[in-house]
Amino acid sequence: MKGAFKCLAVTATLWMSFFLIVDCYDPLDPNGNITIKWDINSWTPEGYVATVTIFNWQQYRHISTPGWLLGWEWTKKEVIWNMVGAQATTQGDCSAYHSDPIPHCCAPNPTVVDLLPGVPYNQQVSNCCRGGVISSYSQDPQTALSAFQITVGNAGTSNTTVALPVNFTLMTPGPGYSCGPPTKVPASQFPSTDNRRVTQAFMTWNITCTYLQNLAQRAPTCCVSFSTFYNPRITPCAECACACASNSTVTAMSGATESTDTCIDPNTQYDDLPAISTGDSIEKSSQPDILYCTRDMCPVKIHWHIKTNYKEYWRVKVTITNRDFSRNFTQWTLTLQHPNFDNFTEAFSFNYKGLNPYGIYSNDTAVFWGIKYFNDMLMQAGPSGNVQSELLFAKGKDFKFSNGWAFPHRVYFNGDDCVLPELQDYPTLPNSSPRLQMSITCRVSMAVIGLSLIVLFV
Ligand SMILES: *[C@@H]1O[C@H](CO)[C@@H](O)[C@H](O)[C@H]1NC(C)=O
Ligand SMILES: *[C@@H]1O[C@H](CO)[C@@H](O)[C@H](O)[C@H]1NC(C)=O
Ligand SMILES: *[C@@H]1O[C@H](CO)[C@@H](O)[C@H](O)[C@H]1NC(C)=O
Ligand SMILES: *[C@@H]1O[C@H](CO)[C@@H](O)[C@H](O)[C@H]1NC(C)=O
Ligand SMILES: *[C@@H]1O[C@H](CO)[C@@H](O)[C@H](O)[C@H]1NC(C)=O
Ligand SMILES: *[C@@H]1O[C@H](CO)[C@@H](O)[C@H](O)[C@H]1NC(C)=O
Ligand SMILES: *[C@@H]1O[C@H](CO)[C@@H](O)[C@H](O)[C@H]1NC(C)=O
Ligand SMILES: *[C@@H]1O[C@H](CO)[C@@H](O)[C@H](O)[C@H]1NC(C)=O
Repeated sequence: MKGAFKCLAVTATLWMSFFLIVDCYDPLDPNGNITIKWDINSWTPEGYVATVTIFNWQQYRHISTPGWLLGWEWTKKEVIWNMVGAQATTQGDCSAYHSDPIPHCCAPNPTVVDLLPGVPYNQQVSNCCRGGVISSYSQDPQTALSAFQITVGNAGTSNTTVALPVNFTLMTPGPGYSCGPPTKVPASQFPSTDNRRVTQAFMTWNITCTYLQNLAQRAPTCCVSFSTFYNPRITPCAECACACASNSTVTAMSGATESTDTCIDPNTQYDDLPAISTGDSIEKSSQPDILYCTRDMCPVKIHWHIKTNYKEYWRVKVTITNRDFSRNFTQWTLTLQHPNFDNFTEAFSFNYKGLNPYGIYSNDTAVFWGIKYFNDMLMQAGPSGNVQSELLFAKGKDFKFSNGWAFPHRVYFNGDDCVLPELQDYPTLPNSSPRLQMSITCRVSMAVIGLSLIVLFV
């Protein structure tokens, strides 16, 4: 009865935290956001030149290839005469211009993409040209931003006549962001490299965009499985964690992968898989995943194996498996919440940073990411489609293997909440399993019988 109440209470707590994530903000990164800063640096005879910078303040959510798309709406008849370090995706109708050259973009609602690395120097500004990829702030603050320069015409030429662009949108591969209204903020200051002189923008606007997990009402994309050294049982991912396997499997060479509710028969040999188009185009990132049929249908699985128990430490092996044949994950992140992270000692082949989302309460969260050129890319499903590391914890005062304490409370892959197994499926300690207990009793009684036999015969 007591157990049932405990289970109820835990389930209720889990549900409550689930709604917290869905409805408000991310509890593990409460201050995470993306800020767009629009600095007007000079006036021109009919407009201005501005530097637009996208800052990713999120601790573990990066923008992966094919990168960001930034859109907005002009409120007057503004045009973009020139851009450096990025480009508008469409030119729009510039037929009213007889000038040479004509504007770069006349659309009332431009959409801008970053340039690819390797463009000529005269088309670059600092922090541009990374193909729209922005790392998370934990992974690398130096590349957690992206910038371009824009020359705007028909725009007003003073701080009283210029108008703010509105209705900003930030699109990224995956769900996306909701951007607030632009607000005028104190002008940015730019210290010189030797810190002996400070210049400042003429005007600065900020736009804050926040990640909304429920923006697209998306199904989960990852699940968690468990195993331990003390129990041979492996707890698989929860059934239908991401979707339920459909009956319409795609067989080898049929190539019929258009439908989203199909999966590949797991008996299909790796070499016989239907041809998969590769590349990083923006259209491709919205294509459905190509997976083997599994009971959870998750593209990514995180496995937490409790490996070793030492006197003062315990060791966990974490494996991230890509089960998607159509996707490589570059600059992946794994975020783990576990009460023992305040005594975390070492990660053997991942980089990591402790997060302290609530400061005063506890340091129970850490973000992990790959080591550059070694395992920072999680390859498509197949023989090399996994990355792994061992984590070493010093036993904190609350340490115990019982009651599922040694399993993570929350797991995020690339900032997406992963589905944990059902509580009743968690591996248990041998002495709390009646079947194992019986066999121990059995062994003990056999030993007693054996001993008495030896005594009898000697
Ligand atoms: C955006 O993030 C920064 C850095 O974490 C934080 O200082 C700022 O308050 C956040 N802004 C909003 C509107 O949440
Ligand atoms: C505007 O955004 C920049 C970049 O994120 C940030 O450093 C600055 O503090 C923001 N200004 C205000 C007033 O929020
Ligand atoms: C911005 O979006 C709002 C709401 O969708 C719309 O009413 C408004 O007309 C848009 N502004 C411009 C300049 O298009
Ligand atoms: C415009 O700039 C002038 C001079 O720098 C300043 O006094 C004034 O407050 C500014 N007006 C607005 C609307 O920002
Ligand atoms: C698969 O087929 C079985 C039997 O035809 C059916 O009961 C089941 O609902 C199907 N499952 C799905 C996901 O379509
Ligand atoms: C993943 O990366 C490898 C190596 O760069 C490449 O050969 C492969 O085509 C990529 N796969 C996909 C699905 O993009
Ligand atoms: C675990 O962390 C707590 C709080 O940070 C500290 O007081 C304690 O000494 C640590 N224990 C070990 C074994 O490192
Ligand atoms: C969390 O970490 C911060 C900074 O390392 C430290 O000042 C604080 O005492 C820690 N809190 C706990 C509960 O361990």
